[in-house]
Amino acid sequence: MRSRRRKLSPFICGGSNATSGAVRIARAYTGRDRIIKCGYHGWHDWTRPGNPGVPESVCALTSTIDYGDLDQLEDQLKESNGRTACVFLETIQQGGLLEGYLEGCVGLAQDYGALCVFDETKVGFRVALGGAGDHFGVTPDISTFGKAISNGYAGSFLVGKQEILRSAETRSTWMTATFQSDLLILTAIRTTLSELQRKKGIAYQWRLGDRLITGLNDAFGRVGLSYKLVGCGPMPSPTVDDTDRDRCFKILERCLGLGHYLHPTHPWFLSLTHTEEDIDGTVQAVDEVLRS
Ligand SMILES: Cc1ncc(COP(=O)(O)O)c(C=O)c1O
Repeated sequence: MRSRRRKLSPFICGGSNATSGAVRIARAYTGRDRIIKCGYHGWHDWTRPGNPGVPESVCALTSTIDYGDLDQLEDQLKESNGRTACVFLETIQQGGLLEGYLEGCVGLAQDYGALCVFDETKVGFRVALGGAGDHFGVTPDISTFGKAISNGYAGSFLVGKQEILRSAETRSTWMTATFQSDLLILTAIRTTLSELQRKKGIAYQWRLGDRLITGLNDAFGRVGLSYKLVGCGPMPSPTVDDTDRDRCFKILERCLGLGHYLHPTHPWFLSLTHTEEDIDGTVQAVDEVLRS
């Protein structure tokens, strides 16, 4: 008898739907229910344990680990006693590209029979086309992408190992909706990808981002303030010591008055629309505010 094939569309709408799709697949494939998560993965119930409106029974299935701590991950995998379906990981956090961490997560998940999912929603098509996994040459079981891939449209998608995505367990789950594989979104994804390739967009974002990091860090450093951009060129991340946090934020507010919006805490993102003049103009504006 032919097995009933249900529809699994890898092209989704919005990052949260892609991450929840990956969780559904991991649970279907492994037959397990627990999730160990690390980072932000959207607004759906499984990833918001403790939030008002999320049932206790759902909260109990998700635990959280700190980025960069492999011992903590192993402790939780042990503790869950064979019930972890997947380790869900936002690949770059706190501005860092931690050498060896992603590989460690994949290895530990495998040791405990769980899948490892890379959430590349912020990182994909910026640091490398395939995100941090691509940048480091580490292959997870499933990866999710969104944001930059459709250049302002709602595109997202997931990819994964064939043996997982084509397994009977995965195919027997339900993962489709009216606006999945929407033609407008697919066109946006295709166009964005070809523009990124044609204009060597990844290298461009690195080059401009590195220029911004160096320029701003030099400017803040010259006046002895601790505000600093860390991390990688395409998505620099601001850090500041508590001691001069308020002063630095006031400086950034003054920059906003000059037309330069520099978020005080959230990672920044470069794009192909930015030019060298934009970067130099930003550094110059910060420099002027600092001098005054
Ligand atoms: C790493 C990561 N995963 C998932 C999401 C959720 O994406 P969306 O807001 O499109 O649902 C976000 C959104 O900021 C994100 O940064």
